[in-house]
Amino acid sequence: MSVVSMRNIVTSFGEKVIHDGINLTIEAGEIYGILGESGAGKTLLIQEMIMLLQPTSGEIEVLGYNLNTITYQEAQALRQKWGILFQFGALYSSLNVAQNIAIAISEYTQTPQKLINQIVATKLNMVGLSPDVASLYPAQLSGGMIKRVALARALAMDPKLLFLDEPTSGLDPIGARDFDKLIVELRNLLDITIVIITHDLDSIFSIIDRFSILADKKVVAQGTLKEVLATQHPFIERFFKNDYVLGRYVHKDSPKPTPHHL
Ligand SMILES: Nc1ncnc2c1ncn2[C@@H]1O[C@H](COP(=O)(O)OP(=O)(O)OP(=O)(O)O)[C@@H](O)[C@H]1O
Ligand SMILES: [Mg+2]
Repeated sequence: MSVVSMRNIVTSFGEKVIHDGINLTIEAGEIYGILGESGAGKTLLIQEMIMLLQPTSGEIEVLGYNLNTITYQEAQALRQKWGILFQFGALYSSLNVAQNIAIAISEYTQTPQKLINQIVATKLNMVGLSPDVASLYPAQLSGGMIKRVALARALAMDPKLLFLDEPTSGLDPIGARDFDKLIVELRNLLDITIVIITHDLDSIFSIIDRFSILADKKVVAQGTLKEVLATQHPFIERFFKNDYVLGRYVHKDSPKPTPHHL
């Protein structure tokens, strides 16, 4: 079953065209990556999926709702079914960790404070943080902890769909791999679909089921790593097929590199 589908999405700002006919489909339960150069329009794509931005034209369906025809009530209900870790995933600096995690719960529900505290403790545990962190303020956290708290906040409403915009950027390699493991564990445990924007090759090679490459204002390749690597495109050549990457990551079912790439 597809959880998100985008058909012929065009996004432009005045004369500037960012997306010129984007098509992609994200299936239930997968970890789906979006990859492309800086400025290719990856964050905008997610903003369109979560109704923060309306595309210039085209159709988007999320969890069975067509975003062009959705009613106000349906949109309110839908907003509670996803969680987002924003690219510059800032926490509110004047709120402590517990308050940051509980923002959506307080906004959308009438949950009593005692239960909110329990939910916060559960979410902190899910992302590998101690309950003591709840009372700290963002300025008292390391970069890795901030990412984890932002993830706990994204999980607060038990989402069916989780959007992660460059979750491992700014983390050291060990922190990034730990975060990757956490993402896979959460997908397996919670049975959710995860959409992740990343430039992190390790994440692409180790946790992503399928992904799309955004280039030339379009999706130029979509599928498994094997399928994407089999597609000829200058971005794919540049991003994946240099000696360093091939030496380090030839995947068991990747196509054999041709001499041209070596
Ligand atoms: N509201 C806006 N008005 C005009 N241009 C915009 C607006 N929002 C985004 N853009 C432009 O759209 C392009 C795509 O932006 P987007 O943030 O989606 O890129 P990205 O692929 O996420 O890049 P990065 O990898 O650097 O995060 C950029 O050139 C950006 O300047
Ligand atoms: Mg971005």
